Amino acid sequence: MNSQRQPVSSSLRTVWILCVSALSFFFALHASSKPPARAPQEPASFRGQSQEEADRKSSGCISCHTSTDEPTMHPTKAVHLGCADCHGGNSSISIALGAAPNSAEYLSAKEKAHVQPRDATFRNRSNVPERIFTKWLAESAEYIKFVNPGDLRVAPETCGTLGCHAAETRAVSTSMMTHAGMLWGAALYNNGGYPAKNTRFGESYNRDGVPQSIKTSPKPTLEETHNKGVIPELDPLFRWESSQPGNVLRVFERGGRKKAEIGNPSREEVPGKPDDKLSDRGFGTELRTDPVFLGLQKTRLLDPVMSLPGTNDHPGDYRGSGCTACHVIYANDRDPSHSAAFAPFGHSGFSASSDQTISKNEPGHPIKHVFTRSIPSSQCMICHIHPGTNMVTTYFRAHVVGQRN
Ligand code: HEC
Ligand code: HEC
Ligand code: HEC
Ligand code: HEC
Repeated sequence: MNSQRQPVSSSLRTVWILCVSALSFFFALHASSKPPARAPQEPASFRGQSQEEADRKSSGCISCHTSTDEPTMHPTKAVHLGCADCHGGNSSISIALGAAPNSAEYLSAKEKAHVQPRDATFRNRSNVPERIFTKWLAESAEYIKFVNPGDLRVAPETCGTLGCHAAETRAVSTSMMTHAGMLWGAALYNNGGYPAKNTRFGESYNRDGVPQSIKTSPKPTLEETHNKGVIPELDPLFRWESSQPGNVLRVFERGGRKKAEIGNPSREEVPGKPDDKLSDRGFGTELRTDPVFLGLQKTRLLDPVMSLPGTNDHPGDYRGSGCTACHVIYANDRDPSHSAAFAPFGHSGFSASSDQTISKNEPGHPIKHVFTRSIPSSQCMICHIHPGTNMVTTYFRAHVVGQRN
């Protein structure tokens, strides 16, 4: 378990984190008044670069991506950015005008210009494959940045560079929408999986995709923790195999019939009243672990939140990770009351981009290459329809009904 933990990165150390108390559901956000310290390897700011400099970093890319909706993603046109500033890749590779897209020359230029993935599942495609789950974390930071510059593993060197959106990037990386600590804390404490009331676990990954702890710095006083719910740190969830079930002696309690076998449901069981309240898992053997840790690990993977892309496998679940999860809209819901101006694009996750290289009838693409601040509620519901985050749907009943429109 410890081998999974990583020391917190130095840029995060100066950061106040979003804190939650699982018992009271009270939470408070503490933003430091000091700017975050710059990591030594942080690249120079893109702010203020000239159009010529930016163009140089797009030159090869646009020999194939001859047209795109908003080249810098920013419709305000207030920034000068080249494709490679955000995506990386080799922008000095280009092809001659008119080279056929299936020619050897074209394919080899594409391979050199693009950052190549480790896993072949990702190769030669422009959407994120369905149900990719943790394969995403196993990819290099360079590849993740190439596919989605808004992913939180790389956002500090793209969106979050100095002079751009450092504050937002810092805040999102420790937001409850990223670490999901309130759900984990509430589920573990209230179900007896972990004894402390104060939230102890949260999801966060370093640049290499390895789970990491996030800390409040300076460490909160006991009074701050007690009165304001500021907690000192969140650690990655324990591996489920090393979690412990409740008191094993409870299997001797009266009532119930024969203990059920794992994976073999009894048809005589009264619905909603399982014979085994605690499961017949004890310490140590036969997958005897705590069901809450297991359930949370499954939810973390199957209904991913901010650090991973959506499952991209059906209407309502198409999205990117990180900043992209909210600011780049995918076609998820065709009801105008949920999707507003994006409703006409349907719910199949298809692209409507002017970029010729992008398939227009393949699910899992953003609608267009552009950021928006007009985020429709259908984009929020990609996550908020799922367990743990679905409390928001309470205020949005109509949407729940219409989600799979
Ligand atoms: C030789 C042509 C060519 C060049 C040069 C090229 N691309 Fe591409 N790119 C493509 C094609 C074609 C696709 C569609 C997917 C595929 O066929 O691999 C694509 C897809 C992409 C994708 C989507 C990848 C994914 O998996 O989601 C991104 C991002 C991208 N290109 C960015 C760039 C950038 C940035 C550059 C310059 C550094 C660049 N491309 C240079 C042809 C090219
Ligand atoms: C401000 C940063 C930024 C710049 C500059 C930028 N992109 Fe992107 N690009 C993104 C983001 C964010 C996405 C969305 C990724 C996702 O949805 O997961 C994206 C997506 C893409 C895709 C995939 C689109 C699809 O439908 O799947 C391609 C291709 C692409 N960019 C090419 C380019 C090219 C070519 C340029 C230069 C003309 C460029 N980008 C400039 C941030 C940027
Ligand atoms: C990538 C997934 C994702 C997206 C997209 C997303 N959220 Fe969240 N949101 C979460 C998670 C995870 C939590 C924390 C759940 C927890 O720990 O209990 C959360 C929590 C919240 C909360 C606090 C709920 C509470 O009970 O205190 C609000 C409000 C919220 N989100 C609103 C939004 C809005 C508005 C949008 C769209 C602009 C949005 N979310 C988009 C994942 C997401
Ligand atoms: C959970 C959804 C969500 C995520 C994730 C998210 N944002 Fe936002 N962001 C919003 C909303 C909502 C607004 C407000 C839009 C409005 O009303 O103008 C906003 C506004 C902004 C603004 C405009 C602020 C202003 O003063 O005009 C910037 C810049 C921004 N976000 C950057 C980022 C960056 C960088 C990331 C990733 C580190 C990110 N956002 C992730 C939802 C999100």
